[in-house]
Amino acid sequence: MGQVTPVLYYASSMDQHISELRAPLGFTRAEDVSPDHEREGMLRARTLPFGVDPYGALDFRSCVLNDCTKLENTELLVDEAGFETIDLSSNVALQQAIETVRREDRLSTAAADALRLSLNGTPIRLANGRSLRIEHVADEGMIHRRAGPNGLDVNPDGMDGANGHGGAPGIHGDQDVLGTPLKQMMDGAAPTLFRHQTPDARNDDSSLFLLNLWIPIQQITRPLVLMDRRTLQPQCHQLRYGLPVTSFLDRDDEASVNDIWKFLPDPAQEWYFRSVMGSDQGYVFDTLGQAHGACILPGEEALEQLHLQIGRACEAVAKGDASALREATAAPSLALPEITTEAIRDAWQCMTELLAEAETQASEISALDEHWLSRARAAMDVVVRKSVEMRMVVTLSTE
Ligand SMILES: [Fe+2]
Repeated sequence: MGQVTPVLYYASSMDQHISELRAPLGFTRAEDVSPDHEREGMLRARTLPFGVDPYGALDFRSCVLNDCTKLENTELLVDEAGFETIDLSSNVALQQAIETVRREDRLSTAAADALRLSLNGTPIRLANGRSLRIEHVADEGMIHRRAGPNGLDVNPDGMDGANGHGGAPGIHGDQDVLGTPLKQMMDGAAPTLFRHQTPDARNDDSSLFLLNLWIPIQQITRPLVLMDRRTLQPQCHQLRYGLPVTSFLDRDDEASVNDIWKFLPDPAQEWYFRSVMGSDQGYVFDTLGQAHGACILPGEEALEQLHLQIGRACEAVAKGDASALREATAAPSLALPEITTEAIRDAWQCMTELLAEAETQASEISALDEHWLSRARAAMDVVVRKSVEMRMVVTLSTE
């Protein structure tokens, strides 16, 4: 079960504009912050014990989420805001590889190789006549995520290499340009080679970037949220953090702790997401410090309950157990909050109707055939966020 119920505050309960939607984002608690003893003037966040419940260990703050699908004339460019939405629809080989991931519901070695092949050496058109050329997709760090609504665990077998990853509930930045493992991999040359900006270092001249490419397979729940980094005060709110990685990466002792970033909240920070996003689009964002995480949207608690109810109903139908089906469908559905996304509203409607159909047919359970089961399983699947991400070295061209 998910542990967080979104705390909802809206600018106006009469205003249905999705741009005023709020959701809790997970920041570092103030008591876990201390001066950094290695780099003067920096702050450090205490490393949380492995396996700790993030929902108890983070400071969740209700933040306005700006829905990029509803905004007009907002320029969010990767070299300014730290992230940018890109169009991936014309890369046929990429779309075929993503389709394989979707069908297999995991990232196989063959699919990962196909994704790298579809991207290495290719250009990506950006806004305002700019473009990226992908020089290299990293061998490490390509993963598939499955995140259930409201934090529901949909990875019962846990992490296994590139698979079994949930959504990242804490706001973080993926890599310190001065830290492990870049320091070891590049013999300390990363700050000279890559464009970056951190609280105590920046390179504004290089055209070479280390970027994450994040591609949704589906994301009506647990969307990726990203900060416009122009709204961040790095000296006050960006924190060094040591992340132990040996549980999911094959690393020797020297590189067993990644140097990443955590963040403190601030009212000036602006957050963005997309309420609807398919694999024809992706985000590129700065690996070297861009603040991001997976949030829980208002309405996900209702979808979580429906997901569990339909799962129990499917089991009852498959066994022909009418009394178990009545039990599964008896609980009233949680209502949606007044303001949620259209995609969540559509999913809630579809799932509610499927349960009503099953309840009506409970006395003649055999009438609920494979057709109902396949629609029910599809409705459950739609509310699981799935995505693929990787890191890549790119050259930015502004001409
Ligand atoms: Fe990340």
